Amino acid sequence: MAQADELLPGQRKLVFVDGRSIVLFNIDGAVHAIDNSCPHNGASLANGRLEGSVLQCPAHGLRFDLAKSCEPGSGSLCPRKFPVQEVEGSLILQVDSASAP
Ligand code: FES
Repeated sequence: MAQADELLPGQRKLVFVDGRSIVLFNIDGAVHAIDNSCPHNGASLANGRLEGSVLQCPAHGLRFDLAKSCEPGSGSLCPRKFPVQEVEGSLILQVDSASAP
């Protein structure tokens, strides 16, 4: 899917897995993978502004803390996250066991 050394801290990468568009973010060495679809109205999150671990949707400005998976006070609006592991230098996504949005 992606090599770990392609995604250095501060970088992001858009990948396609099983027909899904998924964005990977390396935030301070931790890789976070989320569905490239805002839970508000489906906008692409790939080009959202990132401040620390907080991603801002470019469409209407909702903010999501990727380290916590939910925006404080946002109710149930949370981007879908996917477990990601590094195995022998490769980043492996588990799209089947995605956490509930
Ligand atoms: S679509 Fe993301 S905030 Fe509206």
